[in-house]
Amino acid sequence: TLSTLVPPHVAWQTGALKNGPVIRKTTDIAALAGVFADTKSWQRCEPGQAVYDVDVLQTETCEGALFTGVTHVHPGRVGDEFFMTRGHFHARREQGEVYFGLRGCGLLLLQNERGEARVEIVTAGSVHIIPGYTAHRLINTGGEILSALAVWPTVAGHDYATLSDGFSVRIKTDGTGWRAEASHD
Ligand code: 6PG
Ligand code: NI
Repeated sequence: TLSTLVPPHVAWQTGALKNGPVIRKTTDIAALAGVFADTKSWQRCEPGQAVYDVDVLQTETCEGALFTGVTHVHPGRVGDEFFMTRGHFHARREQGEVYFGLRGCGLLLLQNERGEARVEIVTAGSVHIIPGYTAHRLINTGGEILSALAVWPTVAGHDYATLSDGFSVRIKTDGTGWRAEASHD
């Protein structure tokens, strides 16, 4: 007989994952030492303040297998700089990823190995194809939670060390919206 499986479910409005073994990892201000440009403002933040949550469906990890996860970046700033993910290259550099905007508004900051950066605007329904050899960081430029669904190879891994000094641009508030500023470090 044909088995009928109830698959995992994502609520498009919120990014909430159900019907699957979901593992949540929350990254707070304290965990993001050295990530934001304004160290003095970072020190004044509440250390336990959540900056982003990542929910990932538990999956077998082998060549060819894919992870599915939702990242929720909370609204907020450290000084003038918007809350964002740490950002990374994949350890297996050739591996790409796809992000889908679900709610809120923000930017996907992409940077190649030559240090050239670009941004894509993330809104509900936006589709972002991240090629291999491309670092990626999600930035919440709005006043509500920014949620994005992502699918990526389980073998991709994370390389945080290469960009431990930051991306080549920083995204800051200009009062009403955002502006990009070249990094000095
Ligand atoms: C990945 C995805 C994504 C990412 C989160 C948190 O490759 O795992 O890009 O799930 O990990 O958005 O971002 P950081 O890993 O940069 O903290
Ligand atoms: Ni990734």
